[in-house]
Order: sequence, then C-alpha cells, then structure tokens
Amino acid sequence: MQKKPVILVTRKLPEAVETRLAEDYEAHLNAEDQIYSSAELISLSDGVDALLVCHTEKMSAEVIARLPQRVRAIVSFSVGYDHIDLDAARKRDIFVTNTPEVLSDATAEIAMLLLLGAARRSSECEQLIRTATWADWSPTYMLGLQLTGKRLGIVGMGRVGQIVARRARGFDMEIHYHNRTRLDPEREQGAIYHEDVDSMLPHCQFLSINCPATPDTHQLLNAERIALLPDGAVVVNTSRGAVVDDDALIAALKAGKLFAAGLDVFNNEPDIHPGYRELSNTVLLPHIGSATVETRNAMGFRALDNLDAIFAGNEPRDRLA
Ligand code: DGY
Repeated sequence: MQKKPVILVTRKLPEAVETRLAEDYEAHLNAEDQIYSSAELISLSDGVDALLVCHTEKMSAEVIARLPQRVRAIVSFSVGYDHIDLDAARKRDIFVTNTPEVLSDATAEIAMLLLLGAARRSSECEQLIRTATWADWSPTYMLGLQLTGKRLGIVGMGRVGQIVARRARGFDMEIHYHNRTRLDPEREQGAIYHEDVDSMLPHCQFLSINCPATPDTHQLLNAERIALLPDGAVVVNTSRGAVVDDDALIAALKAGKLFAAGLDVFNNEPDIHPGYRELSNTVLLPHIGSATVETRNAMGFRALDNLDAIFAGNEPRDRLA
C-alpha cells in the first residue's frame, strides 16, 4: 500500500476537518493548539510532506529557507496570506494555497456588526448593563449615529467588500469604493468608484477597510488620510491590522475627529495597542471575521481540497505559489 503523505497541522482544526485529514493523510495534529515558534515549526517539519498553517504562523523567508527539502506545500487555512513569503516559497518550489470565497459572507457579517455596533455604541451600552450603571432612560442618553441613508466608503472591493456593499444597500447606504481596478457595472451595482483613496475619503461618513495587507496598503489609514474623512466618521476594519496606523487612529478617536471605530483585526495580535482598550468609542473583537461553524468547516475542507490536488499531481484551485 502506498504511504500516505505526512502533514504537519499547526493549529487545532474543526473536528470534521481533522477527521478527514486523519483518513487521507498521516496527520500530525496539534491537540493542545499551542502556537509553535519558528524553531519549533522547522524542527516539527522534519519528515513532513506539507504544512497546513494558519495566519498565526509566520512563514517568513528565513523559516521557509530552513524547511526540510521534503516539504512540498504550505497550505493555509486563511484567505489572507501576508504571513507567507511567496517569493521564498517559489524559490524552493513549494506550493502555497489559501482559502478564498468561503469566508466572505462571515467576514462581511462582522463588518456589518462593527458598523452598527460602532455607530450605536453597543460596547459602551452593554457595559452600562453589565456594570449595573444604567441609570435611567432619557431622550438624550447614549445617542449614536444612524447608518440608514449615509455614505459608506469601502477600501478594497474584492469578495468581502462587494458583500459588505450589498448588505449596506439594505440600509439604504450610498456606496463609494476604491479598488485597484474598477468593477464592471454588474458588480458595481451603482457604487461610486474613486480612482484613489484620498479622493474618496471626504465622502465617507462610514469607512470599511476590506483590502488585503500588502506593502502597498501598509498603514494606508494614517493621520493624513484620517484628516480627509468628514468629522465624526466611523471606521471599521475586518482585513488586517497592518492597514491601519494605530497611533493615528487612537489619536483621532480620542480627539473626537472620529465618532467611533470597530476593529476585528489588529497589529501584533493578540497584544494589541493598549490605547484601544482605554477608549469607550471602540468596538473591539478578537479576529473572529470567519469564526462561524459553517465557515471554519468550509475553510478546512477547502484547504484539504488543495492538499488533495497537490498530492494527486493536479493544480490546486487556490494556488498562490
Ligand atoms: C483569514 O482567513 O485571512 C482570516 O483573517 C483568518 O486568518
């Protein structure tokens, strides 16, 4: 009987995904779900044919260069791939794949939750109930902002951005967007295209960041760009923390330039900038954009489909390198 390929699975995955993995592969699972250091990743890759990783594993050029020759693939359980040095993988002829599409709805739902939560001060309000400090109802108590009829700017009109736009249209929002390339009219659905982000920002009463983290989008939302937003705007981020300059965002929230922010992703997770915790006008979530039962299963199965293709000698559907 042919030997099954050996897979290092760096994090604990949903049960159904691990079951399929164990049937088809010799899977080295991580039952304790501990995060491996770079040195551990390299040593645990000894005798392994592929790694199934998450965004929590930094597959830098240094790590990839030190992987044993036997490693043929890095299959990521994520749509984002800023944690993998694709050039380094190409140099070593290592396949790299991600899991696009299957998490777009779940992530767009979290963007909507953050837009609503930040606008209506949901964290602050819940705190009042939990700490038994809700004094009374009053006509001027805990006033927030309405989404209905406002202008929403979307940075990055890929799969998630387009679903956010669709959901936001349900709130009668006027959609503006910036994307590297303009969408065709069918996918644009009347959204207003801005060739550069700076020209869009003055229109955005609400701003949703949905672009990938790349060298081009690093700290895209900085002090100068925040200054271009209308006073009292709301910013939400469900992409990657690296797209935002934390100090600039915190300063703008403190100064009242921005009404509120809703963040699901941060620089240096989980040790986020402490300034965010001190602000009442933030809704803060622990990177749960794709965290639904349906989506995490789908991500796992999509990663396994990629793995199956690679070991069957076929082109994996979501090949990045
Ligand atoms: C993704 O898929 O990129 C999510 O952020 C989880 O890693």
